[in-house]
Amino acid sequence: MGLHLDHHKSLVAPSILACDFSQLGAEVGLATSAGADRIHCDIMDGHFVNNISFGSVIVQAVARSTELPLDIHLMIDSPQHHFPGLIPPSTSSFFHSVIFHIEASQCVSETLRSIHDQRCLAGLALNPETPLFEAFPFLVNLDLLLIMTVYPGSGGQDFLPEMLKKIRAAAEVRAQKRLGFHIAVDGGICVETAAKCHLAGANVFISGTAIFGTPDPLSAVHSIRSSVT
Ligand code: DX5
Ligand code: ZN
Repeated sequence: MGLHLDHHKSLVAPSILACDFSQLGAEVGLATSAGADRIHCDIMDGHFVNNISFGSVIVQAVARSTELPLDIHLMIDSPQHHFPGLIPPSTSSFFHSVIFHIEASQCVSETLRSIHDQRCLAGLALNPETPLFEAFPFLVNLDLLLIMTVYPGSGGQDFLPEMLKKIRAAAEVRAQKRLGFHIAVDGGICVETAAKCHLAGANVFISGTAIFGTPDPLSAVHSIRSSVT
């Protein structure tokens, strides 16, 4: 549907899960002025993952605090039933993305199509234990493949280095099939791990703790960007 962006460009997406929610607007504003490309919002339902995070009220508040597109990462069961209510208004200059987990969906193709129908980029996420080949049937229809580099459900975990092989394999398949989807990584992403994932073929770097958990989120965004360009 012509929503593809350039997958050669590195994008930095701060995850607000690690921010100070008592200062949500200011934190999102800080990430925006640091030159972030997208703002990552983690939705957790207490079923697909143990934690419950937040829902549409917070997503709408984030959208009001930035001009940037949002990545809505659904760590929820039955994502097809819930995502439409989570999408904030968009402008003609960008598309939000909706990313759901292959493990949580019985109707992956239909959900990708419904996300596109809502004029959003469609992303599919794979848990660390899920083999890449499970995504093969859907690669032609998605804009972004999210390779989880930790087990989903909480921030602040250590990067799983064995996921680098999966990233390389995804980049190879993309080249073989001449596709253009983004390869995103999420979990334990900091300057060092972002650089490794970039070398392996990832181009979207989602990072929570290494940005908002530091005293200087602005320079953290800059450092991650310089490590992947
Ligand atoms: C984990 C979430 C991540 C999380 C990353 O389940 O999907 O987006 O916020 O946090 P860090 O960067 O702290 O690992
Ligand atoms: Zn996430």
